[in-house]
Amino acid sequence: MYPLKRNRRLRANEAIRSLVRETIISPNDFVVPLFVVEGKGVKEEIASMPNYYRYSLDLLEKEVKELWKLGLKSVLLFVKVPDNLKDNKGTEAINPNGLMQRAIKAVKNACPEMLVMTDVALDPYSIYGHDGIIEGGKVINDDTVDVLTEMSVSHAEAGADIVAPSDMMDGRILSIREALEEDGYVDTGIMSYSAKYASAFYGPFRDALDSAPVDAKEIPKDKKSYQMDYANRFEAIRETEMDIDEGADIVMVKPGLCYLDIVREIKNEVDVPVAVYQVSGEYSMLKAAAEKGWLDHDAVMMEQVTAIKRAGADIIASYFAKDVVKLIS
Ligand code: PBG
Repeated sequence: MYPLKRNRRLRANEAIRSLVRETIISPNDFVVPLFVVEGKGVKEEIASMPNYYRYSLDLLEKEVKELWKLGLKSVLLFVKVPDNLKDNKGTEAINPNGLMQRAIKAVKNACPEMLVMTDVALDPYSIYGHDGIIEGGKVINDDTVDVLTEMSVSHAEAGADIVAPSDMMDGRILSIREALEEDGYVDTGIMSYSAKYASAFYGPFRDALDSAPVDAKEIPKDKKSYQMDYANRFEAIRETEMDIDEGADIVMVKPGLCYLDIVREIKNEVDVPVAVYQVSGEYSMLKAAAEKGWLDHDAVMMEQVTAIKRAGADIIASYFAKDVVKLIS
């Protein structure tokens, strides 16, 4: 007559629900992306990312101290490079006194224990807004890898704990690992954006850094010749396994929400920590809907980050990190 099992018993009230909950979000889950600009006393809101800011170095120091107090112990740095310092080859990327190199030192100065991760790709430095060097209408792989390798060593030299190549060139992990070893940076880690899809969700980020591909003759209009086709699944495994073989300490799937099937698949496949980047468009989408009163911001935010972790993320890079931690503490 009756069901043999009544699953609703374990959902009856918050006490029992919290007892059987499988996925718990904590400050330890997060990496906080931070945007850095030149200047002093600058904290400017990114138009397409409400309540997210670019900081000059002095205010960056203040921000990381606050993050540390909230229990957020890792940051991922991105720089907005002045136009006059951009070229095709990313020359400024390897300037030992460049904005990124100074930002790494500023964070370490403000908060010595903060784990500093750095973005490694040419797009913020490229006059064309591409992650690599352009020749003959194409993003060329191997010369780009050479610059990314020098860039990584330069970040390690400035004090970065982990370099995070986000460019999707072939062979860059091996090249970077070898160079770090050769130069004595044996403790500098690599978090590889292994399965990074050519996604329209990166739009607000490109506003934040003024790094969108330019619309010009002989310049690829999009990043589809290096970032992955979102129709593909096996390719993500191939990319990820290659990066691990080449020496990646942490692998990443990016973006988050639309790619949770990939996250689970990778998590089942590999034995290194898996990071997920909940990207700018995912952030902006919720902010916009919440502003309109169409979605409950905090509830949807928690549902999203919990789903990302449940799918298999050991690490979540998210613009929501601070909001989440304030909410749960
Ligand atoms: C640059 C880079 C991008 C992001 C992280 N690193 C943009 C891109 O590839 O065009 C996107 C992050 C986000 O949208 O939040 N290589």
